[in-house]
Parts: sequence; C-alpha cells; structure tokens
Amino acid sequence: MGVTTVTDVRQTDVRPTAQPAAVRETGSVIAKLFRSEQGGHEQVVLCQDRDSGLKAVIAIHSTALGPALGGTRFFPYASDEAAVEDALNLARGMSYKNALAGLDHGGGKAVIIGDPDTGKTEQLLLAYGRFVASLGGRYVTACDVGTYVADMDVVARENRWTTGRSPANGGAGDSSVLTAWGVFQGMRAAARVQWGEPTLRGRRVGIAGVGKVGKHLVTHLLDDGAEVVVTDVRPSAVEAITDKHPEVGVVGDAEVLVRTPLDVYAPCALGGALDDATVGALTATVVCGAANNQLAHPGVEKDLAGRGILYAPDYVVNAGGVIQVADELHGFDFDRAKAKATRIFDTTLAIFERAAADGVPPAVAADRLAEHRMAELTPSAQWLRPQ
Ligand SMILES: NC(=O)c1ccc[n+]([C@@H]2O[C@H](COP(=O)([O-])OP(=O)(O)OC[C@H]3O[C@@H](n4cnc5c(N)ncnc54)[C@H](O)[C@@H]3O)[C@@H](O)[C@H]2O)c1
Repeated sequence: MGVTTVTDVRQTDVRPTAQPAAVRETGSVIAKLFRSEQGGHEQVVLCQDRDSGLKAVIAIHSTALGPALGGTRFFPYASDEAAVEDALNLARGMSYKNALAGLDHGGGKAVIIGDPDTGKTEQLLLAYGRFVASLGGRYVTACDVGTYVADMDVVARENRWTTGRSPANGGAGDSSVLTAWGVFQGMRAAARVQWGEPTLRGRRVGIAGVGKVGKHLVTHLLDDGAEVVVTDVRPSAVEAITDKHPEVGVVGDAEVLVRTPLDVYAPCALGGALDDATVGALTATVVCGAANNQLAHPGVEKDLAGRGILYAPDYVVNAGGVIQVADELHGFDFDRAKAKATRIFDTTLAIFERAAADGVPPAVAADRLAEHRMAELTPSAQWLRPQ
C-alpha cells in the first residue's frame, strides 16, 4: 500500500515555487516510510483541520493480524518531520506489542502536533475523531502521552473505533491497572528463570517511578512477599506510597536506586532508562518494568546479557494496557482482560526459552517471535475495506 494523505483541500497551500528546504523535508520523510528498516508501513495519513487547528499523523504499520491498534500522542514536536517519524516508529512498535500480546490487531499510532496544555479543545478532538472515522475501522485509537480518558470520550463521539474511554461511556477507564498486573507477571517469569520459582517472595525490587503503573506494581509485589524500594522525582508520588505502605524503602533518585543492592530493577518512569552507565552500575540480575523503550541504544540488550542480567523486553511485559483497551471493542469485561494479561507470564517465559535456545538476548528473541506470528497469519484483507 502507498501513502494516503487526507487533508482539507480548502486550506492546501499550493506553492508552485515551493521552498527547497520544504521539498527536501517531505522527501526525507517519504524515504523513511519506504525504507525497509523503517518497517514498510501500510499507510500514513496526514490530517489537517483549519477550523480547530488540528494537525495530526495517523500511521498504520500493519493490519496483518487485524485492525491497527495504538494510542494517540499529543506532543509539541520540534518539527513536522519529527512528528511523522515518531508516528512511524511508534506504529511499528505497536505491531510487535500487539502480536506478542496475542491480540488480533496490527500496529498503528497517531500523533497530534501541539501542546496538550494549551492546544487541546473539544473542537480539535472531534475533528481528530472524524479522521479516525474516515479510516473505517482500519485504525483503532486509545490514550497515550498527552491524551486521557476524558479526551477519548470526546473522540469517540465521532467514530466507533475509539477505546480508552470512561466506564460511563462503555470504556475500561485507566489502563495502568492491567499494565501493572502484566509487568508483575513478566517479573514472575523472570524470577522462575533466574531463581527457579515464579515468585518475588524474599526478593528486593527497586521501582523507578511510582506513578499510575508503579503504584499498582508496589501493591502486587508486597502482596507476593517482596521487599520494595522506590524513587520518584515527584515527592507527592513517593508520599502516596509510603503513607499507604510504610514498609517501602525510599532512595533519592534512579542513579542511587540502581546502585542499591537489588534483585530486580523495574524502570517505570521514562524511556531510555537502560544506558551504558546504568547497565554497568546495576546490582540487580533481573530488569523488568513498565517504561516504554527502555534500551537507550541498540547493543544495550547484549551488554545486559553479557553481565548475566535477565532483561524482560519492555513491550512484552507492559502490554496489559493494550490488552485492556482491545477488550473494550467487545464490551469490556475486566476478568476476561485480566486473564489475557495474566498470559504475559507464559509469553515472557517463552521468550526467555527461545533466547536461550537461539543464543540471543531476550529482546532479539521477542522480535523474532512477533515477526513469526505476523508472518504466519495471512493478511486479513477484510481490514483493507471500510467496515
Ligand atoms: N499507563 C499505562 O497503561 C502504560 C502502558 C504501557 C506502558 N506504559 C509506560 O510506563 C511508564 C509509566 O507510565 P505511567 O502511566 O505510570 O506514567 P506516570 O506519568 O503516571 O508515572 C511516571 C512516574 O515516573 C516519575 N518519573 C519521571 N521521571 C523520573 C525519573 N527520572 N526518576 C524517577 N521517577 C521519575 C514521574 O514523576 C511519575 O510519577 C511510561 O514509560 C509509560 O509510557 C504505561
């Protein structure tokens, strides 16, 4: 499939003498789209609505397993090209995540260009919802950085393919509940490989970032008999934990945490948590956390394996949230979604086994398994047609 550009023709700025820089920028984005290492995306939709000021990119990487599913990021990108690039990378990541989560969904992602604190209006979200509708079900949206359940309630007024809505509107609400549950399952699988038993009982777990996901993870770990140490840049987030669980330890920052004697390190804040310095300083022999894109650069996965540290791939263990929103499309049932998120234990274990058999780091084994599932199934041609 090629590139689809959907734009409001009334505002198309046709300049026969286009500036060379603009031409070069457009050219480089298209080159990335078609470059195989960028993932051979099926479709990219550029959306613009003059009345509301909406500028958005919807990237569909793959519909091989079903409709593309992935959230909407609202972010003040430094350039339009950076926004397209982010959408392409995020959509590709969703194909892998959805494949290993066992979902019948391909990968897609949308980005809205702008500051969510100042640029988000009902009119803009409705315009965005109409663009999602225009894809006729090939793309299913949800929350991401900068968008929230209340926003999805607005977007959903324009289409049937919006998840992450509030329970009052047929949605599942906050996805961090099952994200934390899935991370806990991944950690149990790592414990089984590293210490022979699928439990964190008696283990010392350090959590960097006790926001929406991290705070639920603390509870699961304490219930399982683990000792927990946390850090967060927001003192209020730490206080919320220690008020509820006075037995939880606290350290000043993530740098101190990785040097603290730990069995498990759980990055639950921002991406890029595992850089060279962190990997060199880690005392833990398991890394398993919710944060997306934990490996700061290619090769970190090999350094972790080289130090005997078992890394549970981030996109595998943090799939509970996408499992939750996917369930919304069938009329949300928490127990059904939780049962599916519990299977993250088996998936993570299968990845560790494949990694050991192939002699590769778990991150590589995860990619191979996802690619296998995507290639195994015949592309579902029905998703190419509007529903
Ligand atoms: N919420 C979900 O369902 C979900 C699903 C998949 C992946 N994730 C990923 O998991 C991570 C956490 O998500 P969340 O929803 O809990 O976000 P959140 O914003 O609620 O929590 C993140 C926490 O990390 C803290 N933090 C930021 N920088 C830090 C630093 N340098 N050191 C220590 N703490 C720091 C923040 O203060 C905040 O409390 C993110 O990377 C997110 O992309 C979340």
